[in-house]
Amino acid sequence: MLEKEIIKGFSKLDKEQKVKKVAAYFPNPKEVEKELKSFWHAEIAKQKLFEEFSENTISNFFFPYGIAPNVIINGKNYMIPMVIEESSVVAAASNSAKFWSTRGGFHTQIINQTKIGQVHFTWAGDFEKLNAFFPVLKKHFFQGTDGITKNMRERGGGILDIELVDMRTEIDDYYQLKASFNTVDSMGANFINSCLEEFAEILKEKVSENIELNEYPIQVIMSILSNYTPDCLVEAWVECDIKDLEGVDPDISAEDFAWKFEKAVQVATVDTYRATTHNKGIFNGIDAVVLATGNDFRAVEACGHTYAARDGKYRSLTSIEIKEGRFKYVLRVPMALGTVGGLTKLHPLARFTMELLGDPHADDLMQIAAVAGLANNFGALRSLTTKGIQKGHMKMHLLNILNNFGATETEKQTAVEYFKTRKVSFSVVEDFINDIRQ
Ligand code: MEV
Repeated sequence: MLEKEIIKGFSKLDKEQKVKKVAAYFPNPKEVEKELKSFWHAEIAKQKLFEEFSENTISNFFFPYGIAPNVIINGKNYMIPMVIEESSVVAAASNSAKFWSTRGGFHTQIINQTKIGQVHFTWAGDFEKLNAFFPVLKKHFFQGTDGITKNMRERGGGILDIELVDMRTEIDDYYQLKASFNTVDSMGANFINSCLEEFAEILKEKVSENIELNEYPIQVIMSILSNYTPDCLVEAWVECDIKDLEGVDPDISAEDFAWKFEKAVQVATVDTYRATTHNKGIFNGIDAVVLATGNDFRAVEACGHTYAARDGKYRSLTSIEIKEGRFKYVLRVPMALGTVGGLTKLHPLARFTMELLGDPHADDLMQIAAVAGLANNFGALRSLTTKGIQKGHMKMHLLNILNNFGATETEKQTAVEYFKTRKVSFSVVEDFINDIRQ
């Protein structure tokens, strides 16, 4: 790899020039160029569409698009698309879905769908005076954003409320306008941010016009939505009689499994190290669905982790109830998703996802993503508390290991057959490949 110079105007180069510029850092630029281009879409229009999602695009980065079938949610059977690079995630979701399909399936409900945005500002005047003027300001905020909110109101959403929050115990002279929104089927980031920026202008203007308040100017620090949406909340759960857990694993009774599973959830509730991995397993499922729909998985992750720490300690997002012979396992997770706007209709495969899911509304999609999270987490705990995670995981990882050794299709078939009844590890697979090649 050659030493990199400071490049001026990279963004102004056309795609071919960008590819050449990057390839020039390698000792074999022609091959690098060819490799990068081999991932370009064959249809020019599609390639252009992908490129325009972002900037300085030189190629596409492929991820597998898989399906977890037989996912029963509130009695309806779904095929859930999952975009994920990690082996065994789709398999875990599918196995859980199959297991629960004969035990009532998954159940879900939306708790709420409120989103939040804030205007952060400082003002050095008398709080009581500003507070007394706030009802008038609030009216101006609603009226002044009429044009922005018109379409959203017609769809049943809009601004729900705006509060003035006194934050002076944290930072001198610091206040917030904290607004809540219903953005219906859109994730709502652009809508919320547009409203907030308008509130900020109105706030500055109305305070500067008011002789009671204009001795001190409003200093707007920033206006931005919050990705923490604890009131945009969905719950997904599974439940059955404990005796119906029979068959969850051949080596454990239903009662012992329920006991061990409960302990595993308790551990993830009290221990932050375990909670992080436990919740990571939940996001294996959630992120995979969120990605397949073209939604913003970083927002969903950030929100979920903040929620997991809402009482000051990072804990499991799931809880368990074992009572009177019943097993009930619940995931509660906030997430702001959209089924209109963003990439959802623009990315051809996101559009396909929506169709496959029956053109869900945002609240339906929240429920589907939450179920994928719960399914993955149940699958992980099921393995962890019985045969351990590695057996299944390494089986699923076998093809990756084989690909590492450049295995041919025949070699892969032989290996898959051989490892059906044997423990998979990198070195054992390496020995096996070397043996059959001799
Ligand atoms: C791996 O991606 C996810 C797990 O570690 C989750 C868990 O431990 O619960 C298997």
